[in-house]
Amino acid sequence: MNWGDFEQVIVSEIQGRYVKLSDDLQKADFLSGIYRAKSEMLKLNAGGNVDYCLPYMGEAYAIYYHMLRADNIFLALSAISSAHQLPARIKLIDIGSGTGSGTTAVGYWLGANVDPSIRKSVEVYGVERSEPMSKMAGSLIRHLRQRIRNTQTNVLHYQLSNTQIAIDRLRNGIFDLVLFSYTFDVYESDKQAEVMSRVLQLTQKLRQNGVALFLSPNPNPIKTVSPKVEFMDTLISYLKSNGMKPIPIKLRRSAFACDEKRSVVLRRICEFLNSECQRLGLPIIYEKQDDFPWYGFYGRCNALTWPANLTRVV
Ligand SMILES: C[S@@+](CC[C@H](N)C(=O)[O-])C[C@H]1O[C@@H](n2cnc3c(N)ncnc32)[C@H](O)[C@@H]1O
Repeated sequence: MNWGDFEQVIVSEIQGRYVKLSDDLQKADFLSGIYRAKSEMLKLNAGGNVDYCLPYMGEAYAIYYHMLRADNIFLALSAISSAHQLPARIKLIDIGSGTGSGTTAVGYWLGANVDPSIRKSVEVYGVERSEPMSKMAGSLIRHLRQRIRNTQTNVLHYQLSNTQIAIDRLRNGIFDLVLFSYTFDVYESDKQAEVMSRVLQLTQKLRQNGVALFLSPNPNPIKTVSPKVEFMDTLISYLKSNGMKPIPIKLRRSAFACDEKRSVVLRRICEFLNSECQRLGLPIIYEKQDDFPWYGFYGRCNALTWPANLTRVV
């Protein structure tokens, strides 16, 4: 399985959902829903909060961001593994797991990097509060499971909706990886301490050598530093002050692991939806070149672990 195959899974899933709709009224609702969700997602570029519970957010996110984020996480894992050993059986907790890009990336990374004769597994606890996002994750991960099973990689996935439940119920869980990929919103200052303390509690579930991986927006040199960037700086300092140490990793700006920066396969679903908008007299959804999905690493990546000599209270 390669990235193109997985892009095809997204295309088939979304096209399948669309063609199942029996009349044009429902089809127009689907297309307008994707239009609204895509416009809402643009708030991310301005460093704002997005309402992920909007209808059709799962579809809009899967088309535009799922593979971009999976590619970013894949690159981050590759960079970490050159400085720090990752196991062939990974137990992962993915906070704000969205449409399941973390599961895609870890499953694919294991298949591509670990000796084919070794049995690999990823056991994922995805914590996601938005139903449209987690429903899409369920569908995409089902396909992923079927497709990579024959590469000796087993994918198990559990969906949870609440971080506190994950902390309480997985009390004795020991994880290899805790992932936060573009998870954090802009928080009121009085909420930040609570969020940081929860993140610390989650990192305390890591086994010795386990990794906490944070992917987050980059400070934009033209705009003023956004609250999300400031929060990430504060959070990383807080985790370090509690004893975690950074894993040195290098990631080239604009790097991508797949073959082409502009995805031909995902573009197909955008063009299909646009043609349906035209047929039904609706405004087209993907208008400008940058409305179509593309790859590249433009964010920031922090990876932290617990030093071997530190006694932790779990
Ligand atoms: C920008 S998306 C990132 C999704 C995924 N991690 C990725 O990189 O593709 C952020 C997601 O985090 C979820 N989220 C944020 N805070 C959360 C929380 N405290 N509990 C559950 N989900 C959360 C949102 O609903 C949204 O789906």
